[in-house]
Amino acid sequence: MLLRIGSSQDVNKGQMRVFDVAGTKVNVANADGHLYAFDDTCTHMGCSLAKGHLAGTVVTCACHGSQFDVTSGAVLRGPAERPVRSRAVQVKGDDLLTEA
Ligand code: FES
Repeated sequence: MLLRIGSSQDVNKGQMRVFDVAGTKVNVANADGHLYAFDDTCTHMGCSLAKGHLAGTVVTCACHGSQFDVTSGAVLRGPAERPVRSRAVQVKGDDLLTEA
């Protein structure tokens, strides 16, 4: 099921923004105009990935440097070992929708 979490204008190019989706912090990243959604909590020690750095489709955690592929949630570099959950995201008219 897709839920409305905000407006299609909420996340600018190259930016990340965190939304509350049914009690879970979900990060929506705008990588060169493409939106990707994934759980914001780093699987290493729980830092917010939104406080890290987005370069293309790679997010780097500010705490210990783990890297994740925002398109899939896969770990690209440790110390994190487990992926973050990736979620479907969609723009419909003015609405930003993501998977619950
Ligand atoms: S909490 Fe993200 S790398 Fe350690």
